[in-house]
Amino acid sequence: MTFSNKVILITGGAGFIGSNMADVLIKQDVKKIIVLDNFCASKKENIAHLLDNPKFSLVTGDVRDPELIEELVQKSDIVFNLAASKLVVALEKPRTDLETNIIGIFNVLEAARKKPEVRIVHASTGSVLGSSDKPMPEDHPPKPTTLYGISKLTGENYCRFYAKEFGIKVSVIRYFHVFGPRQDYAGKAGVINIFLSRVLQGQAPLIFGTGEQLRCFTFVLDDVEATLMLASRKDTIGETYNVAAETRLSINDLAETIIEKYAADKTMKPEYGPAAQGENLRPVPDTKKIENLGFRPKYTFEQGLEITKNWIAEDIKNKN
Ligand SMILES: NC(=O)c1ccc[n+]([C@@H]2O[C@H](COP(=O)([O-])OP(=O)(O)OC[C@H]3O[C@@H](n4cnc5c(N)ncnc54)[C@H](O)[C@@H]3O)[C@@H](O)[C@H]2O)c1
Repeated sequence: MTFSNKVILITGGAGFIGSNMADVLIKQDVKKIIVLDNFCASKKENIAHLLDNPKFSLVTGDVRDPELIEELVQKSDIVFNLAASKLVVALEKPRTDLETNIIGIFNVLEAARKKPEVRIVHASTGSVLGSSDKPMPEDHPPKPTTLYGISKLTGENYCRFYAKEFGIKVSVIRYFHVFGPRQDYAGKAGVINIFLSRVLQGQAPLIFGTGEQLRCFTFVLDDVEATLMLASRKDTIGETYNVAAETRLSINDLAETIIEKYAADKTMKPEYGPAAQGENLRPVPDTKKIENLGFRPKYTFEQGLEITKNWIAEDIKNKN
């Protein structure tokens, strides 16, 4: 399947990954991109440049609304379900987390039963797996250590069940530590963007815990490409895929790299704070399954970092 002449719904499409996906798709020969977002965790500026494009349509609404989702799925050929309540929300508002991450995909899957030809890719997370000393393949026993991981795992299970029992054309993709332009650097998650913005503004990176926790950083456009690839192949229906670049860095090494490359004062030292609740210390995936489909990340860590640094520097300048 190509995306030529397709109507594509991106739930959570005004967010970090979704807005980058919309940018990639709008350049293709698609018929329409519909972004659904309730803007609880994103700003309109992420998609402002797309609003005048006749191929783009914004729906301000909620993935938890079954009638709205049914109406949108009826109009769509492909659905990328990216709307989610993230880790920090889960700690503060567990009900919102549960409803968004479980009822949201449930609404999409139920709507698809009334339009079985619709193709769905559901965004999940490495947080469903937990930690391990060895790289974890897709079928590694999941051991989520956060409410976010629990709700996302349930969402995944719904996808696999609906694919197997009802023939719904859904694939699950698990992202791990995505970074890139438009990731909120003023929030509590997205360590690369937060460190970059601090260092560019003369502040030391703030590390929670020992800093020895490992991260598998992947540039956002590589995750977008992997997601589009899954939607374009029939053999991925009902399957789950880990996607991550090869970079494995500790938070200490990340802080050191960013200071070395971008700090005005190279003698800057990171500061340390208390460890985050339920944090995965070694959430390292085995990515052979998606590599066997021919997927390879295109961006090196350094290229992604440079693009992201330039975006943050520009954004800080525009806001001042
Ligand atoms: N960024 C990462 O490192 C990462 C890692 C693993 C998995 N993921 C997954 O990727 C997906 C996209 O994440 P992101 O980093 O772009 O996050 P994001 O918070 O930037 O985007 C999520 C979007 O969903 C919207 N949203 C939240 N609740 C909604 C609701 N009830 N109805 C409609 N819209 C709603 C938010 O406003 C936001 O625009 C999520 O499913 C997330 O779980 C992200």
